[in-house]
Amino acid sequence: MTFDAHPRSSLIVALDFDSLKSALSFAKQVADIVGMFKVGSQLFSNAGPEAVRQVAALGNGVFLDLKYHDIPNTVAGAVLASAAMPGVQLVNVHALGGSAMLKAAAQAVSAGVPMGADRPRLIAVTVLTSMDQKTMREVGMTGSPLTRAVKLAQLAKKCGVDGVVASVQEAKAIRKACGRDFLIVTPGVRPLETGGEKKDDQARTATPTQAIQAGADYIVVGRPITAASDPRAAAQAVVDEIAVAK
Ligand code: C5P
Repeated sequence: MTFDAHPRSSLIVALDFDSLKSALSFAKQVADIVGMFKVGSQLFSNAGPEAVRQVAALGNGVFLDLKYHDIPNTVAGAVLASAAMPGVQLVNVHALGGSAMLKAAAQAVSAGVPMGADRPRLIAVTVLTSMDQKTMREVGMTGSPLTRAVKLAQLAKKCGVDGVVASVQEAKAIRKACGRDFLIVTPGVRPLETGGEKKDDQARTATPTQAIQAGADYIVVGRPITAASDPRAAAQAVVDEIAVAK
């Protein structure tokens, strides 16, 4: 993967639509001003690999966000298949799957790619940005989101994973613990210009400026752009904010 320096390359727009038709008609409106598109479980469950093919054909890279969390063998097979889809630059798993699963995923992401060729990067979800301390407790996770996310990031790195998905609040500590080359992707981003402080179902949110300053390589923005009355203006405002913050 090549990192072009343009600020738009840091913006990943989440295509959380229930049909490929609406996802594509939206994506075409903003394709020339954003970086990657994210195909997640909602669109993938509705439209399958065809969604990846058609979104990839727009020329922006694809973040295939299916957050695999299963036994190592099954996850390895799913990562291998994901990495083989056209245009996929990022794929992900849950760090909570543990070291055997993470290592299997890390092997699988390079397995189908010829030597020397670019391969997708594998990232691990640490703690979902919709979770706060209370929801973590409900599922038996102890400690704060920050401590847990840093520990999970260190585990992922040790297992050969290229980076993590984490909230902006954790990005700085993860950067410090895992070094400069470790990718950090931050969702839960709420630009002040495009949605005020509307959080939707996200518990831990921050602005694009805070995300970039905390060390994020990529920021994922969904509803503040997809549900905006003027999506191009909303996307451009995020790119402008990234440019100033960089
Ligand atoms: O609409 P919104 O900006 O909240 O969308 C955020 C996107 O990032 C969603 O597609 C969601 O699945 C994804 N995501 C997240 N938190 C994570 C990992 C991914 O919100 N930890």
